[in-house]
Amino acid sequence: MVRRIKFINPDRNYAMIKDEIDAAYFEVMTRGDLIDRGQLKRFEENLAAFVGTKYAVGLNSGYDALHLSLRAAGIGPGDEVIVPAHTFVASASAIVNVGAKPVLVDVGRDFNINCDKIEAAITSRTRGIMPVHLNGYLADMMLVMEIATKYNLIVVEDACQSLGAQMLGKKAGAWGLTGCWSFYPFKILGGYGDGGAITTDDAEVDLFVRRMRYNGEDRQTGEYHGHGFTCLMDNLQAAFLDVKLRHLPGWIERRREIAERYRTGLADIPDLLLPHYHDPRRDHVYQNYVVRAPQGNDFSEYLKANGVEVLTQFRKPYYRHEALKLEDRGFPETEALSREVCSLPMNVEITDQEVDYVIATVRRFYGK
Ligand SMILES: Cc1ncc(COP(=O)(O)O)c(C=O)c1O
Repeated sequence: MVRRIKFINPDRNYAMIKDEIDAAYFEVMTRGDLIDRGQLKRFEENLAAFVGTKYAVGLNSGYDALHLSLRAAGIGPGDEVIVPAHTFVASASAIVNVGAKPVLVDVGRDFNINCDKIEAAITSRTRGIMPVHLNGYLADMMLVMEIATKYNLIVVEDACQSLGAQMLGKKAGAWGLTGCWSFYPFKILGGYGDGGAITTDDAEVDLFVRRMRYNGEDRQTGEYHGHGFTCLMDNLQAAFLDVKLRHLPGWIERRREIAERYRTGLADIPDLLLPHYHDPRRDHVYQNYVVRAPQGNDFSEYLKANGVEVLTQFRKPYYRHEALKLEDRGFPETEALSREVCSLPMNVEITDQEVDYVIATVRRFYGK
């Protein structure tokens, strides 16, 4: 009989922490604490402490975090920002939507920006670099920061997929002017709807984003400090995320256990490239467990046909979508990985038996 292994199981996750989530819900609802109240403040303090920055500001989405970070940095028309060719489209859209130009750079085998290719993309108009820590693994931030310092560039970290990951003891989101977070439900810290945040050490950026998320208003004085946006994180969402943040360290450990189980079960298949890297300076939190299979769609369709829900993000690189009008400067690694990527189920709700079923299905595909 074919089993069905879901990519994520939000219902099971809720069952794991039901008492705490329900208590958070009742606290918010009985007090009527809906907008910009203590629960949001508490979550912001706990998030900043977790990442290791002075400030965190809760927003509606990861996109808002990227967008407001670029605005806080004063990036706009005439400016260029370097961004990886392989990322979620929101990274580039935020740059376009402040009027600047995204300049795409190919990635390396770890799915992150290839730092050897950044300098060739820098022009007199370059103002910033947006490294994206994809799948739960940091870009090489030592190199990114070195280049940024050399060319006087602003760094906005798209850390949406890497909460808890670190390099040399410094966490994702604590390196650049801002770290940008998404709490979309599938994320390692996922809410029950959209959510996002920035983290920063810069008091001016903190203040700017705080005002701009609330239509430019200073909540103390009522003064408008610019034309802003409506993108404040809901108090209820903040209360839920605060509960989940407490579990995150343990959940990261569980993700690492699952990744190790996959590695042990699949390492002898020469065709499969597994996401285990050998840089002792960086660790992986396995937001996603993305393998590369040269068999591409034959591989992913076989898994689906055998009840294993997988994602193939992204078969079509974002710069190939005509309406986005982005420049394809030639990205051989992105092109190759786009044909091969396949994310296996990775979540804290999955059982070892289910992981073993995924492993057995992959092995069967390869005749093992
Ligand atoms: C790398 C990356 N950047 C940006 C985003 C945008 O986040 P959101 O969907 O919360 O706007 C996401 C999440 O989907 C992401 O994975």
